[in-house]
Amino acid sequence: MKLWEYTAKDGRSITVRGATVDDAKYLHAGFRNVVEEHMWLPTFTPNSHVSDWANWISRTRHTREVLLIALVDTEYAGHLSLQPEEWHASQHVAKLGIIVMKEHRSNGIGRSLMLSGERAALEKDYSKIILSTFDDNEVAKGLYVSLGYRVVGIRKNHFNMPKGLIDELLMEKELSE
Ligand SMILES: CC(C)(COP(=O)(O)OP(=O)(O)OC[C@H]1O[C@@H](n2cnc3c(N)ncnc32)[C@H](O)[C@@H]1OP(=O)(O)O)[C@@H](O)C(=O)NCCC(=O)NCCS
Repeated sequence: MKLWEYTAKDGRSITVRGATVDDAKYLHAGFRNVVEEHMWLPTFTPNSHVSDWANWISRTRHTREVLLIALVDTEYAGHLSLQPEEWHASQHVAKLGIIVMKEHRSNGIGRSLMLSGERAALEKDYSKIILSTFDDNEVAKGLYVSLGYRVVGIRKNHFNMPKGLIDELLMEKELSE
């Protein structure tokens, strides 16, 4: 898989590339950190192990799944996943997930991952990306809307989080548009 380079808002270099098995410990720890914020993901305890991440990364070599890692200089800063929809008739549709580490947010990493994710999706023959976010996640919504994702639905009170009941916002983008 290709490698993409960007410049962060603070002037440092951002590299986005396909994750390798050696990256599994970073993706695992990064996911755990965001889950433990109890703010942005509808998961309360990170049950996965490093080996699960290594297996997932290995699968991306032979399947249409994608796992991209973002590095600021050489430090892990976040990652993005694409997974095909289950339906036979929806194999052109990828489900996207993204996290950026707290200390690296609002520095252009999310945008860099999203732009690379769209390139990677096209390389794996997807023509549409779907995602969902908490309705109170203003940063995520700002990022997705600025990249052309549109809201296609709202699931009211869909998540019972420590901060209260949260609506789920469903969004999508057709890459050929
Ligand atoms: C949502 C998330 C992926 C965005 O990544 P990021 O690296 O922080 O975002 P970027 O710095 O690339 O900014 C992208 C856009 O987000 C919005 N944004 C970023 N920081 C913001 C802030 N502090 N306040 C409001 N909007 C903000 C802006 O629209 C920005 O566009 P701009 O650069 O043209 O101003 C990241 O904040 C994150 O991982 N949050 C926690 C986990 C999460 O919410 N994951 C997504 C679940 S659906």
